[in-house]
Amino acid sequence: MKTLVTGGAGFIGGNFVHYQLKHHPDDTIICLDALTYAGNMGTLKGVLTNPKFSFVQASIADREAVYAIFEQEKPDTVVNFAAESHVDRSIEDPGLFLQTNIMGTGVLLDACRKFGVGRFHQVSTDEVYGDLPLERTDLFFTEETPLHTSSPYSASKAAADLLALAYFRTFKLPVTVSRCSNNYGPYHFPEKLIPLMIINALSDKALPVYGKGENIRDWLYVEDHCSAIDLIIRGGRVGEVYNIGGHNERTNLQVVKTILHALNKPESLIRFVTDRPGHDLRYAIDATKIKQELGWAPETTFDTGIQTTIQWYLNNEDWWRDVLDGSYRAYYERMYHNR
Ligand code: NAD
Ligand code: TYD
Repeated sequence: MKTLVTGGAGFIGGNFVHYQLKHHPDDTIICLDALTYAGNMGTLKGVLTNPKFSFVQASIADREAVYAIFEQEKPDTVVNFAAESHVDRSIEDPGLFLQTNIMGTGVLLDACRKFGVGRFHQVSTDEVYGDLPLERTDLFFTEETPLHTSSPYSASKAAADLLALAYFRTFKLPVTVSRCSNNYGPYHFPEKLIPLMIINALSDKALPVYGKGENIRDWLYVEDHCSAIDLIIRGGRVGEVYNIGGHNERTNLQVVKTILHALNKPESLIRFVTDRPGHDLRYAIDATKIKQELGWAPETTFDTGIQTTIQWYLNNEDWWRDVLDGSYRAYYERMYHNR
């Protein structure tokens, strides 16, 4: 297989590159990434000398550059991770999310039509379903749940997800889509809940919890997301959507307290701050379809995965110190100062 991985210098895309090169050493991977604030070459350090790996810096929204890469490389599989991925940033600047997430996905789909591929896989999110009530713990998102988005981020991801499915129906492009719950693990950019709390706790800084910390997320260890996508691109049915999640629901406050306890830091570091506008209450995934059709099952429980993740941040201070540059500090000031 010759796979074009877009957004491979980011959190999940980077983990997917490592996963593919480890589990399928005969396959070739081309990574296309714009290296925005969220993309880090440090994430790909271990694979840069692998002859089966190559890297191109370009935007998925740059049609000329994307077509040139397809013409030269002729990938048979495309996995699209590239996106603006942070809800809080989408509230600050929705336009960038429309440009990358919708227009960029459109350019990739056009390139796939023009040059021909065996598979285009769109990495979507459970956030396209909107949210579930906190008290209705019997409800889960299935692939049939109507899309009902809350943030500019989730709306832009829903548009890209539906566009990919439209290219299957209209142009018979061999498309699959996956909608996964919240990931955590190594190389996670520290604007997101788990790495932000680990790094703040390590520095004895306040841990900003939105609202009352009651919101629930369904956490999946990133390697389990990679194994699911790997199964879908090799054995999934085209035109189909697959939910991915491992029934690891936790309130944000539970997650934050787990991190504090693991690092032996006091709960007095927790600071409740103004809630996120439009904040989704609860996400919870029913992943029966991918289990039954493709035999996927997550290997890592939250209790194990969170300890592994904390240990990774302790062992890889160089990686996260490098990404906490001036633009991160400016973002942190804008987002949290006087909140
Ligand atoms: P991330 O922000 O860590 O990484 C995104 C990567 O995309 C970065 O390397 C960035 O440089 C790159 N990128 C951004 N704009 C680009 C452009 N125009 N052209 C090329 N590259 C560009 O995000 P992530 O958390 O790794 O998420 C990856 C994908 O998975 C996204 O599509 C996201 O919507 C989806 N997803 C994420 C989660 C999660 O919990 N993080 C859950 C479900 C789905
Ligand atoms: P996040 O990691 O941004 O993922 P998403 O919003 O895509 O689920 O946030 C996870 C949860 O943690 C979400 O309910 C918002 C909350 N949160 C905080 O309470 N404080 C923070 O500083 C951040 C970044 C998130």
